[in-house]
Amino acid sequence: MSATHQLRCTNCGTRIAAEAVRSDFRCPDCKGLYEVIYPWSEGWSAEKTASSEVPATGPVRLPNPGGLRHLWQERKTSTMGVDQSGVWRFREMLPFMRDVEKVVTLREGNTPLYEMPRCAEIAGVDWLFAKHQGMNPTGSFKDTGMTAALSVAVERGFEWVACASTGNTSAAMAAYAARAGLRSIVFIPEGKIAWGKLSQSMDYGAMTIQLKTDFDGCLKLLTKLVQQFPIYLLNSVNPYRLEGQKTPAMEILEQLEWQVPEHLVVPGGNLGNSSALGKGFLEMKHLGLISRVPKIHVIQAQGANPLYRWYNDENKTMQSVSAHTRATAIQIGNPASWLKASRVIEETGGWCEQVNEQEIALAKAQIGAEGVGCEPASAVTLAGLKKLVAQGRVTREERVVLLLTGHTLKDSQYTIDFHKNELLTAEETAGATDVERAQHDALRKPPMVLEADESVIIKTLTARMATVGAR
Ligand code: F0G
Repeated sequence: MSATHQLRCTNCGTRIAAEAVRSDFRCPDCKGLYEVIYPWSEGWSAEKTASSEVPATGPVRLPNPGGLRHLWQERKTSTMGVDQSGVWRFREMLPFMRDVEKVVTLREGNTPLYEMPRCAEIAGVDWLFAKHQGMNPTGSFKDTGMTAALSVAVERGFEWVACASTGNTSAAMAAYAARAGLRSIVFIPEGKIAWGKLSQSMDYGAMTIQLKTDFDGCLKLLTKLVQQFPIYLLNSVNPYRLEGQKTPAMEILEQLEWQVPEHLVVPGGNLGNSSALGKGFLEMKHLGLISRVPKIHVIQAQGANPLYRWYNDENKTMQSVSAHTRATAIQIGNPASWLKASRVIEETGGWCEQVNEQEIALAKAQIGAEGVGCEPASAVTLAGLKKLVAQGRVTREERVVLLLTGHTLKDSQYTIDFHKNELLTAEETAGATDVERAQHDALRKPPMVLEADESVIIKTLTARMATVGAR
């Protein structure tokens, strides 16, 4: 029997057959997380795996780069669901499904890459694009990972799936589970996620459980439960999630006609996404699709910054933090994939930065004012880029892509509060420079309440048009 793939522990390197993985997706020897490897991956070995009734033999066939690019383009014109998916269109890069017919897809991926000239000017670079993963079916990048891992759940015959979430994973899981006819259970920290996301998991029919704890507490509990019940865990500790989430790397390159940007800036929460994108770029380099990779920079909120702290810690010990940020999607103090993400930063030559609440709010409004919009967690990318430019890590002429992870409608309350000037506390704005304060003021567009009277409206418009420019 030839295995399509193996799982390799990213901590101790032990390889196991895919079917031998434990329900918590942790290595029994060292508790490390697994990554999926293929016959063409670096480090693949045809020897027996550690676990192994399943001998991991198989021909080491490297897909041909020119052929792949052509094939991926061609599939865009196909009417088949798997070809129209911006994940499965690249299925040679994630060949773990034995039966492609079992794939559950909502036609995820194929998201736009927007030119951002005004944000470029603000950040101090000439060339800036935003890959908007919020334009996925449930409004976040999680769909690309969910189609992958949930399809595995279907292939393995699970009836129940579950995740702990700050809101977007749960929305995605609920939707894909519903499509597949599976039952889903969501664990979310009570009062700590945006309403829009909570409504999604209910709309898609998940069993929604709000726990009086934080995200880290939810994940810890769920990890214990999946060891007692036949429930398939769909958090990003599940390595198949990351296989789906690596495909925006391919899309970005397609959209840039295979010109590799110098930098990719990604928000960091549980750190699965930065790990996935790094894997995607590094695998493409290994396969000869590209000759170099972008530097991958991870940006965390200052109040949820364990990776940033680890980066700046001379002793290099990872310590969890009690996480607090208004960017609730990344309010995570004990990130599961920190080791994977730190390796990606190291291997690509990237950096880890933190940004505060005021910087996040400003960046979000600036992205919104460019007609793109995103949720707060995504805006850390622009806020972080400003810092990377100021530090000289990104220079003006280098090409930068920001990864926007969630749609602006995911957290509309944040946006409304910002524009009404009810978002930030005095403490949160205390460190803002005069320029930043002026930028906040200029961006705020609170709704006006007027009498439904033509003359009142004309008077107001006349006064406004005389004082306010085009923007
Ligand atoms: N941006 C958004 C909009 C997110 O929802 C998340 C994570 C991240 C960034 C961070 O990505 O965890 O891979 O580093 N949201 C998870 C959730 C945790 O449950 O929806 P990460």
